[in-house]
Amino acid sequence: MQIVEWTPDPRELADLELLLSGAYEPLTGFLGHDDLHTVHERGTLADGTPWPAPVTLHVHADLSPGDEVTLLDPEGLPLAALTVTGHEPDGLTSGPVKALGTPEHGPFSRLRRTPAQVKEELGGRPALAVTMRGPLDDLSEVAATAKELDAVILLLPLAYGEAGPGVVRAALRAKEQLPAGTLVVPVPLAPRDEPEIDLELREHVAASYGAAEHLAGPDPVRIPGPPHRRGLVVFFTGLSGSGKSTIARGLRDALLELGSRTVTYLDGDVVRQLLSKGLTFSKADRDLNIRRIGFVAAEAARHGGLAICAPIAPYAATRDEVREMVESVGADFLLVHVATPLEECERRDRKGLYAKARAGLIPEFTGVSDPYEEPDDADLVIDTTHLSIDAAVSRVLDTVKSGGWVR
Ligand code: ADX
Repeated sequence: MQIVEWTPDPRELADLELLLSGAYEPLTGFLGHDDLHTVHERGTLADGTPWPAPVTLHVHADLSPGDEVTLLDPEGLPLAALTVTGHEPDGLTSGPVKALGTPEHGPFSRLRRTPAQVKEELGGRPALAVTMRGPLDDLSEVAATAKELDAVILLLPLAYGEAGPGVVRAALRAKEQLPAGTLVVPVPLAPRDEPEIDLELREHVAASYGAAEHLAGPDPVRIPGPPHRRGLVVFFTGLSGSGKSTIARGLRDALLELGSRTVTYLDGDVVRQLLSKGLTFSKADRDLNIRRIGFVAAEAARHGGLAICAPIAPYAATRDEVREMVESVGADFLLVHVATPLEECERRDRKGLYAKARAGLIPEFTGVSDPYEEPDDADLVIDTTHLSIDAAVSRVLDTVKSGGWVR
């Protein structure tokens, strides 16, 4: 038997919290292959117990039944111990979980209560649970239904991810307009893709909190902020010497001249002087370099900032990860492929690196002895062979302007 430490992803951590609190009763752990199969086929666990949705964990470690996994929060605090009952080659890991500590942080964590605590508070009175992912637009319906049932109103904001705190605030605002005694209990339930499964899971969770009836609040209409206030990452990719740094710098200067936005500038060579100092040009180090750039860019964009990145970023999957990071904070991502062909980059050879790479003095040189995966998802493709720098900068700036990101 071995003990392994593992930090689940945000979705898995949300599920873990619901498993530990009892909100997922009768579930006591993450589901394995057989249970997932029957959940999918007929909405029950393998033993026939009704259960609507997959609740899964992936642990990328070599595990066998009987091993124990200590599940950590992102800061490294132990949250739970999982006893492995199954482990698939893709990392899918099943087994019961036992709490090790109570996480007491996160926005509105003081409002959290377990189903048992809520049931005690209800003291046997019937409850009408309202699960919500956004503002409730018909409070009178909620109040009328509660009155009819003579029930306490239990608002369950499904607070997950970036939008989580906003949903709890919406619930607290709704409470002020609803009868005294209305309860607000945040539940970290991540949305499921299929609407019917999502609804069934909400019903299960509501029932675990002692609700006799359940109303599902309307799905929030996402109203994105105006683009000139939204975060934006302009991500240039292309070979060394393709002109991406020059265009990126020109874009930065043009934006600073316009003056409506501040700019975070993350050029490949600049990043490697501090943020990624010491990294090599191996695939692993290049990926780490791009993830660091993506992380910083997404942090800037999270606060409505504009970040310009200009690394080679030769791997499509890593560029996708950055797009994902940026979009997950509610910001926009613009991929600009500076597609100047290798022959032209090499002909210019402004830093003399291609000559050295050809001479075998620089190993793993992109385009010569290392791969560059051409993007097929670029928002803009610019070949600078017959295009001036000014014209290239204008094309990017026009895209940024026409998308409304600057006025
Ligand atoms: S990336 O692959 O990790 O995205 P990055 O943009 O940070 O690359 O760095 C590329 C710059 O490093 C090039 O412009 C070039 O000046 C320099 N360089 C040094 N060695 C290599 C190499 N083996 N491959 C590519 N660029 C290199």
